[in-house]
Amino acid sequence: MVSPREIIDRALASGRNKLLEHEAMQLLESYSAPIPGYGLARDAEEAVSIAEKIGYPVVLKIVSPQIIHKSDVGGVVVGLNTPEEVKKAFNQIIENTKKHMPNAQIEGILVQAMAPKDAIEVVIGGIRDPVFGPTIMFGLGGIFVELFKDVSFRVAPFTEQDAEDMIREVKAYKMLKGYRNMPPRDIKSLIYIIMKAQKILVENPEISEMDLNPVMSYPDKALIVDARFILKKTNKEHAH
Ligand SMILES: Nc1ncnc2c1ncn2[C@@H]1O[C@H](COP(=O)(O)OP(=O)(O)O)[C@@H](O)[C@H]1O
Ligand SMILES: [Mg+2]
Repeated sequence: MVSPREIIDRALASGRNKLLEHEAMQLLESYSAPIPGYGLARDAEEAVSIAEKIGYPVVLKIVSPQIIHKSDVGGVVVGLNTPEEVKKAFNQIIENTKKHMPNAQIEGILVQAMAPKDAIEVVIGGIRDPVFGPTIMFGLGGIFVELFKDVSFRVAPFTEQDAEDMIREVKAYKMLKGYRNMPPRDIKSLIYIIMKAQKILVENPEISEMDLNPVMSYPDKALIVDARFILKKTNKEHAH
């Protein structure tokens, strides 16, 4: 397995300020954080062979150093069930990307196992606050974060108990606890991912921003399906 050090050094050496989709997945994997099966495809044939290996249904996503929000450029297609659908989606994504961002370099397309339906999507973020240092954010996906600013924060170092408290603090916790016909979620697996996020941010000073968005939350597990890591060169001479 590739080490976080190698993944980050390679990205910085090639002049990039973010990890590519598959590198982000490799980094999470190296920390034993839960992710769906995946592979990087350079052409439609390879996308199909990866899909056959990880199993249908799959999701296809554009991989480009210049693209931060993949859906905005038509760069994500979910729910693909056959080789034909995979090939069609592959070509569609390339076409969409060339139309929306003609100058974007295309590194390939990430083929990822589709996470099961009926997830509650949560967001786990990380920033380096200029005063407080590495800080982790938790919230529910979509409008809860954007419209209601229903999020909680903890400054590292914090404990599993703190991670649990930050989950309970958001108003949307009611949904995670089980509401109407929605079953309660596995809070332990969310605590596990928050603790991994903290570890990743603390151990890798080159990561200036982290966005695990979404993390799919289920009654018996959680899966990180998208991860963005923004990098900044650190000045090692000035580190104490
Ligand atoms: N593996 C997956 N399984 C199920 N749904 C997914 C998966 N990957 C992405 N999605 C859905 O597609 C949306 C966009 O994909 P994402 O990888 O987050 O791209 P971006 O945030 O760059 O637009 C996600 O918010 C999620 O709802
Ligand atoms: Mg996303």
